[in-house]
Amino acid sequence: MKNVMLQAANLCKSYANNGTQNHVLRNINLELYEGEFTVIMGSSGSGKSTLLYSLSGMDRATSGEITYNGLRLDNLKEDRLAMLRRSSMGFVFQQMHLVQNLTVFENITVAGYINKKLKPKEVEKKALGLLQMMGIERLADRLPSQVSGGEQQRAAIARALINSPSLVFADEPTGALNSKSGHDILDILSELNAEGQSVLMVTHDVKAALRAGRLIYLIDGKIADEMQLPKYTAEGLKARESQVLSWLSSMGW
Ligand SMILES: Nc1ncnc2c1ncn2[C@@H]1O[C@H](COP(=O)(O)OP(=O)(O)OP(=O)(O)O)[C@@H](O)[C@H]1O
Ligand SMILES: [Mg+2]
Repeated sequence: MKNVMLQAANLCKSYANNGTQNHVLRNINLELYEGEFTVIMGSSGSGKSTLLYSLSGMDRATSGEITYNGLRLDNLKEDRLAMLRRSSMGFVFQQMHLVQNLTVFENITVAGYINKKLKPKEVEKKALGLLQMMGIERLADRLPSQVSGGEQQRAAIARALINSPSLVFADEPTGALNSKSGHDILDILSELNAEGQSVLMVTHDVKAALRAGRLIYLIDGKIADEMQLPKYTAEGLKARESQVLSWLSSMGW
């Protein structure tokens, strides 16, 4: 039995533009299940990032309901939303937003200290473990400006995981990386998913999309179609890729 983790019902988001309404999300109905690796694709401007921000409560929807593990997010107060995001969601974006005057290690631990679920010593131990998992423990004491883009992205993932989130949101996490670094980041996300972590990722990159168990295609703020794939493994990638490419081309991608 798959449990619904995040649910959107009739989700709409509009922006007022010179007196006219720009309808960016139009009546999105979506259920994300525990343990899924879901990828959202669609052309630029189709509303992918807006959907991610609205689902996580980082941005308020104009109308509709969002339910996260049984809790309505759309009418939750800002401070409770922030607390919930901190304690049970992780965020990895193309621009990593590491704090520039904190070291890699401090960027990760601060997120744990603020959450207050673990004692500082435990946060530090966990941060070390995550740095090892990401293969960047030797960079712990460097500033973000002293490590590469791929290493910064790993640090950002470590930070996203410090509070053991149930769901990781990723918006083009490989967009700013070369293909080797991008591949490594995708391997990390796949491994996390294999261990039961839920992932919701937006990407333009077919290689990244292949990691999904479920692909969703947005056109003009609406879900145009979706596709299920078997759990990702490194075998049979050619066939998986041609299946995804033919679906994408049927979507006008
Ligand atoms: N704060 C805002 N105010 C007004 N319009 C906005 C705002 N944020 C986004 N939009 C508009 O909403 C639409 C969807 O934007 P969004 O960033 O969700 O697209 P996207 O699918 O993520 O595109 P990309 O692939 O280029 O990242 C765009 O037309 C954009 O201009
Ligand atoms: Mg975007």
